[in-house]
Order: sequence, then C-alpha cells, then structure tokens
Amino acid sequence: MRRTHLSLFAALSVLAGSSGAALLAAPAGAAASSIPCSVDYKVQNQWDTGFTAAVTITNNAAAKSSWSLKWSYAGNQQVTSGWNAKITQSGAAVTAANESYNSTLASGGSVSFGFNGTYTGTNALPAAFTLDGVTCNVDDGSGSSGGGTGGGGGGGGTGNRVDNPYAGAKGYVDPEWSAKAAAEPGGSRIAHQSTAVWLDRIAAIDGVNGGMGLRAHLDEALKQKGSGDLVIQLVIYDLPGRDCAALASNGELGPNDLDKYKSQYIDPIATILADPKYAGLRIATVIEPDSLPNLVTNAGGTDTTTDACVTMKSNGNYERGVSYALDKLGAIPNVYNYLDAGHHGWLGWDTNLGPSVQEFAKAATSNGASVNDVAGFIVNTANYGPVTEPNVKVTDTVNGQTVRQSKWVDWNQYVDEQSYALGLRDKLIAAGFDSGLGMLIDTSRDGWGGTARPTGPGPLTSVDAYVNGGRIDRRVHVGNWCNQSGAGLGQRPTAAPAAGVDAYVWVKPPGQSDGASTAIPNDEGKGFDRMCDPTYGGNARNGNNPSGALPNAPLAGHWFSAQFQQLMQNAYPPLP
Ligand code: GLC
Repeated sequence: MRRTHLSLFAALSVLAGSSGAALLAAPAGAAASSIPCSVDYKVQNQWDTGFTAAVTITNNAAAKSSWSLKWSYAGNQQVTSGWNAKITQSGAAVTAANESYNSTLASGGSVSFGFNGTYTGTNALPAAFTLDGVTCNVDDGSGSSGGGTGGGGGGGGTGNRVDNPYAGAKGYVDPEWSAKAAAEPGGSRIAHQSTAVWLDRIAAIDGVNGGMGLRAHLDEALKQKGSGDLVIQLVIYDLPGRDCAALASNGELGPNDLDKYKSQYIDPIATILADPKYAGLRIATVIEPDSLPNLVTNAGGTDTTTDACVTMKSNGNYERGVSYALDKLGAIPNVYNYLDAGHHGWLGWDTNLGPSVQEFAKAATSNGASVNDVAGFIVNTANYGPVTEPNVKVTDTVNGQTVRQSKWVDWNQYVDEQSYALGLRDKLIAAGFDSGLGMLIDTSRDGWGGTARPTGPGPLTSVDAYVNGGRIDRRVHVGNWCNQSGAGLGQRPTAAPAAGVDAYVWVKPPGQSDGASTAIPNDEGKGFDRMCDPTYGGNARNGNNPSGALPNAPLAGHWFSAQFQQLMQNAYPPLP
C-alpha cells in the first residue's frame, strides 16, 4: 500500500503560487508494519537555481545503531551543504549517513536531516530510497514486523507515538485565525501558516460566542489531514489563579478552583480528545504557559515575588493542576504533551534553571503523572526571544571580558532560545525525563528583522557596545513581554529544524494581543498590567525599564491589527 500526501511545505508553495516545479512529497510514513522504512523528502524552499530539502526517515524494522540512506537524482541536482547527516554525492547518487549524535534509530523511531542543493531545469523528486540497502516506502510483503517487545499494542497501530509528531506531518491551519490574518492587507502571505488553538477558558471547549469549539477544530483537522499525517496544537491554559506574576492574562478560575479545573476543563477536553474518531490526528498540547516557572522565580524570597504566586505555591494548585493535565491527556495515545518552560530571559540563569528542572520533574512525577506523560518541552511561548543571536555568542569576550557581564546579558548562561532549549533538554534528561525528549520553540514573533536589525557584530570598544550593537533582540530589556515594539514574525513553522528540536511552532497566533495598554472592563477575568502600557517605567522583573509595549492594544487574545502589520513588516526571514 502506498500513500502520498502533499507536505505542508509543498501545499504552501502551491498556495503561494510558486513556479509549478515538482514539489510533491515522496510517499510518506504510512507506518504499515510491512513497510520496512519510510522516507519523507520535502522540498521546503526553491528558487531559480537552488533549493532546501528536509528528509525524515522512519524506521519500522529493528532498531539500528547507525544508518545510511541512499537515493539517486534523475536530474542534475547537486547537494552543496547539509545538516544532521554526513551527505556525500557521486554523480547522481547521494548517500546520507548518520552523525555521531543521531546514529541510533529505534524501531518505530524517526530521524530528520536537511540540505541545500543546486539544480537547473526541473527539480524532480528522487523516485526511490534505500535505508541500509533496504528499499523504503514499499511493502516488502513480510507482514507484521513483530518486534515482540511486549508491552503496548503490537505493530503499527495508531496507539504508537512517533518520536517527533511534527516530522512528516502537515500543521493544522486554524480557520478563524487564518480568516483574520487574510483580512489584513498583505496578510494572505502568512494566512496559510499553522497556529495553535488556545483553550483559554471553559467556554472555549464548546466555542466562545458561536466560534469554533474543540470538536469543530478537530473535525476540521480531520478534513485538512486527508490521508496524510497532521499535527494540531492545543494550548491548555486555564489553571486556577492563572498568570500569577502578571495581570494581563488572569483567568476565570480563582486560586482554589482546582476541582472545577479538573472536572469542567481537563476532563471534558480529555473525553473529546479520546474519541476514536480523532485517533488518527497527532495532537500536541502546550501545557499551562508560565505556571511552573512562576513558582520558581516569583513565589517567595526575591524582589520579583508576588502575593498571587506565593498563594499558588503554597496551595499547590498549579502543581496539582499541571500533573492532572499531564496524566489525563498523557493517557491518550495520540496526544503529545509539551510542558511550558519559560524562555532564556527568564530561567536562563543557572540559579533559576536548576530549580526549574526540579519543579518540572516534581510536577511530572506527582499526583498520578509520570515522565512518560511528557513528550517534550516548549520554550518562548508568546515571548520574543530570538532562536539564535547571530552576532553574540555567550562565550564571546571583548578585551578579555566575557559578554556575560554586559548589562544586557547580565550573567545569563544563554543569549538565545535554541541554545537555551538544548541546554535545558540535557538537564531534563539528566533529571530523569525521556532521552528522546523533543523541544519546541515558539517563533511566531521573534524574527527581529526590518531596518533596525544589526547586520554584524557591534564595536569592540566595550562588552556593552559589542552586545548592544550586535544583538538582533531589540527589546529595551529581556524581561519585557507585552506587545513588543519592533518585533517581527520569526521562522515559519518548521519540523525537525535541529537535533533535539521537534519543531519551530507558532503557538502565539500573530495579531493576538498580549494585553491591553489601558484598563478595559471585561468578563474574561483579565486585568490591566502596566507592562502593556508604553508609558510605564517597569518593575523588578524587567530591571525597572520602560515596557517597550505598543500603544492602543486591546485585551489579551483580542485582534491587534497594528501589531500584526508591524510583525509582517519586521518579519525575519522577510516575507515576499
Ligand atoms: C493570552 C490571552 C488568551 C489568548 C492567548 C492567545 O494569553 O490571555 O486569552 O487566548 O493570549 O492569544
């Protein structure tokens, strides 16, 4: 049985009206157990003479300690540089072999790599792939692979989680967000991107004010999925006493409403997600942004402490709520839980990161939850930290002084989100989390392009001049988080961009406000946080700096056209 599907990238290229070159994906990971291996080869990006490709191998045979994938081009394609595999080419024949850090390939596991290449004429897809000499994407007639490992479920059923749910899958396009984006001048350039669905109140399960509820989104996801694979992202965001260190996203549940959270929020969501109708979807959940990090840094003993966070730490309802969500949702075989882990400008100091890892481990191993309920972690949710700082490395020195002592870095161990995500990942695995842990990075608003983007390193006159001249993150302070002036769209959603990173994702839907810049009465529980007021001089959590927020912002989650326009204007990579 062979199946084909349009990859996310191919579908988008078609929408964007590109040249009509062959962008169809190769037969994808159908994972019928008699297909020994499947290869998903996508042309992610293509121009006159060059292209970027992403390849994901899924191994359905016995586990491997090394691997080598071969294919041949019909045309004159020439690989010029690759990542996450050692790629060599002789004539038309290409070999991609594992790197030392991704040599193991479990039975049922996947690995991804990518490369740039040149071509002229037609960039036709390779017709066939072999993995260690065995032809992929074709039924070898051997029947069930019969791994015989006992435990759960036998070969190839929908109950087997894949290593990276984003690999080889389309991303769900939320029709409601997409319509808002498309209605903006220029918005059709990004309206086809996948963004997360925020379940930010109990009413969101059935749909707020006649809008789409959870079942409506899942039914639409099934349609978009077709016969391929699709990942839909849901943000679980309604903890008791929500957003304890800020006011803008305070929620509907009081600090002691744990029972309500369980019975009226998590349980109904779990019931819907467990409907067998949805078993073929890959459902990625983002669990309770900011909650556990707030317990670590804002719940006692420092100048960043708030009474609300002290309450949530002492009553235990953040921890119990997160454990409950992990446990209930983690029991559903096609759900992948990603626990929120703040961002580098919050937890990146060792004095915060060590305790954070302990806090994550505690929540993931108490109240019925286990580390097996955690597929991975997400960083930078709704924040603005760049994936990488091209002109500043934390190891750089200026006149013998480390950049860590600059005012901007302020002794942080990290200056960007990808190094933070991977550093954190190592610590989490050392603390007992699964060694296959996948990280997500929310890149929806961390692009920092436009005219203010530095084009090279700053001057070597002092650590401050060097860092401030070179950093692409143009915030006033790394602790600023509300509707940041000057920000742009970041990397488009991308599967498996780096080893250990499951995907770059757009969790915060671009165009949705972080909070109102003046007090606005509302029935959503939302407060007025002056970090969203451009005239505010700041607090201890941003070193008493100006907030850097855009003016005239509506309530958190509401559409903010001016911000959407600026995000497109300052997109990096730029929009066409
Ligand atoms: C904020 C809002 C929430 C909204 C989300 C996504 O956290 O409080 O209501 O759904 O952002 O925009």
